[in-house]
Amino acid sequence: MSVLSFGSLNIDYVYSVDHFVSPGETLSAKALHVYIGGKGLNQSIALARTGISVYHAGAIGTDGRFLIEALEKAGVNTEYVSVLDDVRTGNAIIQKDIKGNNCILLYGGANQAIERAQIDNVFTHFTQADYLLIQNEINHLPYIVEKAKNIGMKIVLNPSPMDEKIFALPLHKIDYFILNEIEAFQILGEEFTEAYDGKQLAEKLRNRWEDATIILTMGGKGSICLNHTEYIEQPIYKVEVMDTTAAGDTFTGYFLGSLLSGKTLRDSMNMAAKAAAIAVSREGAAPSIPCKAEVEALIYV
Ligand code: RIB
Repeated sequence: MSVLSFGSLNIDYVYSVDHFVSPGETLSAKALHVYIGGKGLNQSIALARTGISVYHAGAIGTDGRFLIEALEKAGVNTEYVSVLDDVRTGNAIIQKDIKGNNCILLYGGANQAIERAQIDNVFTHFTQADYLLIQNEINHLPYIVEKAKNIGMKIVLNPSPMDEKIFALPLHKIDYFILNEIEAFQILGEEFTEAYDGKQLAEKLRNRWEDATIILTMGGKGSICLNHTEYIEQPIYKVEVMDTTAAGDTFTGYFLGSLLSGKTLRDSMNMAAKAAAIAVSREGAAPSIPCKAEVEALIYV
């Protein structure tokens, strides 16, 4: 059993700022760091760190070959990553404030130039025993989901960043939704309210997609897993926040990887919470993702 992680690969330009730049304002950044990133790449690395077999599929430009090297170093198979000649690698302009919060401006680049021929070829190598993991930073997602379902693969959707393209997907065919509270309101078509009840929100999602397992992450309020048979509340592990970038990706990769390694839903939620806590205590996207030994060594504080 393998996970096919079909997703974005980005070069992240992270600017450290006192506050996020406002309309009309010119702001000097205190520092600039360049990291490997992209929700797809981050999740592939987190998955691989749990010890399972991971294949990343996606596209970069010739300026992004170091992203392939980083994936391979992390143990991710990259034979289905295309290098395109005429388009640059996707990138993200990330402002990181003094509290570790971020805001992200994306340029899709090669992530939005994936061709059907590549997708057709990739899916000839997978079977119904395998899982597909997707986010919302690449093109042709409906086609990718259709291909996976035709084979009988299980599908895990992290609808991030959330936009109208998610509604073009056959959401009733999704087996696992992993999403944060803002994405949850958006996918339900409801207005976000700060005073939401996590359990009720998860129940609404489960009622909408009855056969799916819902994993709802809620920042400092922890996370919830809900399906037909189980309801799990997972608190956060408190750490000093350095940089929240890729915390959700780390959670997603560690949750799925732990589950597919044979852990229970409860233990997988716990591993994911620990891994995400370590990630927010460090700088950067992919470079902040911990290895499995570090996650297992973290005890509740
Ligand atoms: O989730 C964090 C990621 O979102 C960053 O690495 C950035 O590339 C964007 O895709």
